[in-house]
Order: sequence, then C-alpha cells, then structure tokens
Amino acid sequence: MATFTLPKNSTITKGKHFPAPAGAKNVRAFKIYRWDPDSGENPRTDTYDIDLDQCGPMVLDALIKIKNEVDSTLTFRRSCREGICGSCSMNIDGLNTLACLKPIEDVKAEVRIHPLPHMPVVKDLVPDLSQIYAQLRSVEPWLKADTPPPPDGERLQSKEERAKLDGLWECILCFCCSTACPSYWWNGDRYLGPAVLLQAYRWIADSRDEHTGDRLDALEDPFKLYRCHTIMNCTRTCPKGLNPAQAIGDIKKMLAERVV
Ligand code: SF4
Ligand code: SF4
Ligand code: FES
Repeated sequence: MATFTLPKNSTITKGKHFPAPAGAKNVRAFKIYRWDPDSGENPRTDTYDIDLDQCGPMVLDALIKIKNEVDSTLTFRRSCREGICGSCSMNIDGLNTLACLKPIEDVKAEVRIHPLPHMPVVKDLVPDLSQIYAQLRSVEPWLKADTPPPPDGERLQSKEERAKLDGLWECILCFCCSTACPSYWWNGDRYLGPAVLLQAYRWIADSRDEHTGDRLDALEDPFKLYRCHTIMNCTRTCPKGLNPAQAIGDIKKMLAERVV
C-alpha cells in the first residue's frame, strides 16, 4: 500500500455536518478526523449526529453505522469487534484505545476521534504501520532454538516458567502504547517503543528460547531500548491492561545484572 504523510504545516479545517434523522431523541455528535491524500486538501473534522437509540453501544458500532448508513467514504480498520485483532486502535476522546471496547457512554460529551497520534496517515483513521512492523520483525518475535525438539513431543515448560509469559502473550499489537509514548514520538525511527520491546521481552522470558544472550545484545543500544524514560503513558493507555513499561524495566534489569 502506498504511504502518505500529512503535508507539512497542514491545518485541520472545518468539515461537513451530517445531521441526525428527523425525530431522533438521543443524539450524540461524533467529530471525526478526515483526510484523503488523493483530494489534495487539508485534513478536516466532519461531524456526524448519531441517534444512539438506533446504534450499538460501542464507538466501533457508531463508526460502522456511519459508514453503512451516512457516509461510505469514512475509512477505518476493524475486524474482530471484540478486542482480539488490534485493528480498530485509534484516539478516542484524547486516549488511544480500541473502538470496539470503548463504550460510547464513557464519553460524556461529543465523541472526538483521531487516528493514532504521531503516525503517518494513509487515510482518515488508518495509520501507516510499516515502520513499526519493520521494528517488530527486527526483534525476531518467534522461538529460536538450536536444539531439536524431543522426537516424541513438544518442548516443555514448568508451570512457573509458563507463568513468566503471562502479561506478555496477551498483547494484540494494537500499538496504542507506542503511539502514546513521547519517546517514540520523537525518536520513533531509532527507539523501538513499548509494543515492540514487550514483544522482545516475551521471547527473552521464554524458557524454551535458546537465544536470550543474542536478543539482549541486540537491544543494548542507547536508542533501541534506553530512550524509555519510564513516563508510563504506555501502561496507562493499554486497552488490554498490560504493562509494557514493566517489560522494558525487566529487560534493562537483565542487561544490568548479566555478567560481561
Ligand atoms: S514508560 Fe517508556 S515506553 Fe512507556 S511511555 Fe514511558 S518512555 Fe514510552
Ligand atoms: S502492550 Fe497493550 S497497547 Fe501495547 S500493543 Fe500490546 S495490547 Fe496494544
Ligand atoms: S475490531 Fe478487533 S480489536 Fe477492535
């Protein structure tokens, strides 16, 4: 897919207004960032007045209703609609979260929706994730072992070894955390960011992996890892309740404690 970045010095202009149907009694305004690179125009904010009596309870329900019934040009990602695929991450009411898990009722006034912050935009609410996926590939997020598995079974772990992966395997790669991290905003080309570092730690912590030393060597870098200043935005925003800042801290601790 082609990648587009916002024109420099672009401003968000006032957009279109789509009123609610006549007779609607429970109306909520959704103010949504719109940008179509093919139009050559600046981004704008469109306002959609939605009758909540005719809409499902989540922000994603409202987006789907808008696309199906009001304005088919609105573009966003989604797949599972139950917090599993990580596709519908966006900034809602100032917080990075999943549209499918965000109840409309939790937003008290108008619902303001933007794409994940500080990422190039492909269109409307769709960020370009090429760089962050390249960073994910760079940490080789898969089991690396030179010893062949037992011929008659799987590579086994004790219950205690398996428990070390809890809080890590649940990550759905929505990137709410990385795009909420000021260090990633300013150094995203070199700092790996909380989502990718949590994935790196998921394999460092896996007792079956035999490349722990190489993995730690690869992270021992002033930018890749040490740009984290423990600001904790990542942990505060994670819609799955995970703690990437803790994972980063654990990597730093392992590096500090290992014998050189
Ligand atoms: S704790 Fe580290 S990774 Fe998380 S938001 Fe702060 S600087 Fe970013
Ligand atoms: S740690 Fe949480 S916020 Fe970050 S990518 Fe994983 S699920 Fe999303
Ligand atoms: S649609 Fe899959 S996480 Fe929201």
